[in-house]
Amino acid sequence: MTAAPLLDIANLSVQFTGRQGPVTVLEDISFTMGHEIIGIVGESGSGKSTLARAVLNVLPRQAEVKSSRLAFDGIDLPALSQRARDGLLGRRMTMILQDPRYSLNPVISVGEQVAESLVHVKGLPLHEARERTLTALASVKLRDPGAVYHRYPHEISGGMGQRVMIAMMTVLGPELLFADEPTSALDESTKGAVLQTLRDLAAERSIGLVIISHDLDLVSAFCDRIIVMNEGRIVEDCGAADLPRSRNVYTKTLLSASLTLSLSEVDR
Ligand SMILES: Nc1ncnc2c1ncn2[C@@H]1O[C@H](COP(=O)(O)OP(=O)(O)OP(=O)(O)O)[C@@H](O)[C@H]1O
Ligand SMILES: [Mg+2]
Repeated sequence: MTAAPLLDIANLSVQFTGRQGPVTVLEDISFTMGHEIIGIVGESGSGKSTLARAVLNVLPRQAEVKSSRLAFDGIDLPALSQRARDGLLGRRMTMILQDPRYSLNPVISVGEQVAESLVHVKGLPLHEARERTLTALASVKLRDPGAVYHRYPHEISGGMGQRVMIAMMTVLGPELLFADEPTSALDESTKGAVLQTLRDLAAERSIGLVIISHDLDLVSAFCDRIIVMNEGRIVEDCGAADLPRSRNVYTKTLLSASLTLSLSEVDR
């Protein structure tokens, strides 16, 4: 018997019902993934975050989610109770959000926040959770984890904050991790280093990682496979190395857009 894919999605659609009636924001999404590193790219509004939230089951109530298959490690997700699905969240599948300033509690030191999540989710005694937190802070290449532990979110840079978030989400041992625009709040020089850390950690621990981004160039340098979305549909699913040879008109537009951008950067 072959092992079930980590994530298996077939014909997933999402509709939001608002005052103007239903709006379809995801349509006929199908793909499977294993313990690999995938980039999902597309313009704003193409449905990237909605796709991650549909898998994690954290969409608002007015969203209607349909699929012919939505399975995680062979588990039929829609068949689970709300409680069982909530139980997967944070433990086996999770998400890193865009801006650590909004994801971290401003009045608790960053180390305590990581330790508390370990106590809460894994039921570890606090002294053990603190030890594990120091190791986790070191694993995301934060220098002097002992000092970082006691800092408050406003006392660290955006790049350090995002490393803390990565430590917090990976220390719980997830198998599937969505990183939704994990570097868009960071400056150019920090983006690559944070993505490299995320990539290395995912590869080392065999985590299936999905990096969501607008930036095709950036993401294709860190992912093995790229899924391009446009208006709620997948228009391309290929190896990152095959992107330059894509025949898809939309992918080519995205590629030439990033080329134009990098040329204009040379001009400056
Ligand atoms: N709660 C909601 N109610 C109604 N429509 C929504 C809701 N959330 C998202 N949408 C719509 O769904 C579409 C896809 O949104 P989504 O946030 O998934 O796009 P995205 O690709 O992540 O964009 P961005 O790159 O800007 O983050 C958009 O048209 C958005 O307006
Ligand atoms: Mg989004």
